[in-house]
Amino acid sequence: MFRNTAALVDCDILTDNIRNIRENYEYEYYIGVVKANAYGHGDYVVGSLIRGGVNYLAASSLEECLSVRKRNSDIPILCLEPINVEYLDICAENNITITIPDIDYYREMRGGVALKAHIKIDCGMNRLGFKDKHELKKVVDDIGDRGDLQLEGIYTHFATSGIQDKHWDNNLKNFCEITSLIELTKIPIVHLGRSLTMVNHDKIPFANGIRIGIVMYGFDNKMQEPTGLRALKKKLLLKKYNISQTRLTNSLHLKTAFSLRSEIMSIKRVNKGERIGYGAEYEAKDNILIGVVPVGFADGFLPGNNGRYVKINQKRYEIVGGIGMDMTIVKIDESVKVHDTAILYDDIREAAAYMGINSYRLLTSVTNRVPRIYKEGDKFTEIKY
Ligand SMILES: Cc1ncc(COP(=O)(O)O)c(C=O)c1O
Repeated sequence: MFRNTAALVDCDILTDNIRNIRENYEYEYYIGVVKANAYGHGDYVVGSLIRGGVNYLAASSLEECLSVRKRNSDIPILCLEPINVEYLDICAENNITITIPDIDYYREMRGGVALKAHIKIDCGMNRLGFKDKHELKKVVDDIGDRGDLQLEGIYTHFATSGIQDKHWDNNLKNFCEITSLIELTKIPIVHLGRSLTMVNHDKIPFANGIRIGIVMYGFDNKMQEPTGLRALKKKLLLKKYNISQTRLTNSLHLKTAFSLRSEIMSIKRVNKGERIGYGAEYEAKDNILIGVVPVGFADGFLPGNNGRYVKINQKRYEIVGGIGMDMTIVKIDESVKVHDTAILYDDIREAAAYMGINSYRLLTSVTNRVPRIYKEGDKFTEIKY
């Protein structure tokens, strides 16, 4: 690493997070979602997730699945998107489980290679998945009659979190209706939903698996139970739409593992009245000191909506003059020296909030120009993706 800008990923935190999740819930299959380079952490973290207790992985495309496969030769990996049938032999060779999203895809499959498949149900999002129960039954029966394809799983993805909205309950009802002609109990893995399904709902009795993404990376989605008028409003809403109870609190103890760091590259004095940055955006109100940090929007350090800061030696310093493609200027004081570490963010949730985006987007915005440094105990490993 020649430029001192990197993301630090604490692998031990990720392992502890999964252990903590496993202590709190009762699923048999914890399918760790590692798409988008493990939500920006980098797929090096796969080993730490498996050590914590994840026993299946899921990624979006065949490219992503193959990249994850390089990190571990044994764990089953589900590809969440349908893979062009031309490449199914690559899936067989690499133990990649495919998704069958509809009857047309199934008809296109030529067969002949031994594959594991999960069928996807569209319970209301209108994206991927079977909507017609007769088509589903036809495909399930047909798979039962052939020797090359193993129907290992069935799943759906909810359109909403189901926290005080009626869509989630409708989605669940739709799943039950669409699968009503097949015997779910004969399918080894039934996995519905994502992190919020796990933390905010009671376990769905017939599901033995759960796909977890953001919760593994440290977001527990704890919320305050409403009080007073808000509590009354919630009660009325639940009754009016017959919405199932959700849990807003939980006993998870998770930590985020990702921080974006750089350093002070250069320091200069700016006189009162001088302008700073592109577009002469910031005017110095006094004689001030500024520090230049080698990080910019090309690294995924995004301009925020509500002003922002950088942490140096435990203190917050204001960013002045906007964020450029490669450099950011910070108003500092005499205590700051060249090469001091500048922490751009170490609390993803807080950073996402002041950037006005969600944590998923923030994590996946950090570009591959930024090397990832992995901390495992006392060992540090640098990887450039
Ligand atoms: C199909 C599917 N399942 C599970 C997940 C994991 O979601 P989360 O990170 O909210 O747990 C995703 C993420 O977008 C997804 O697309």
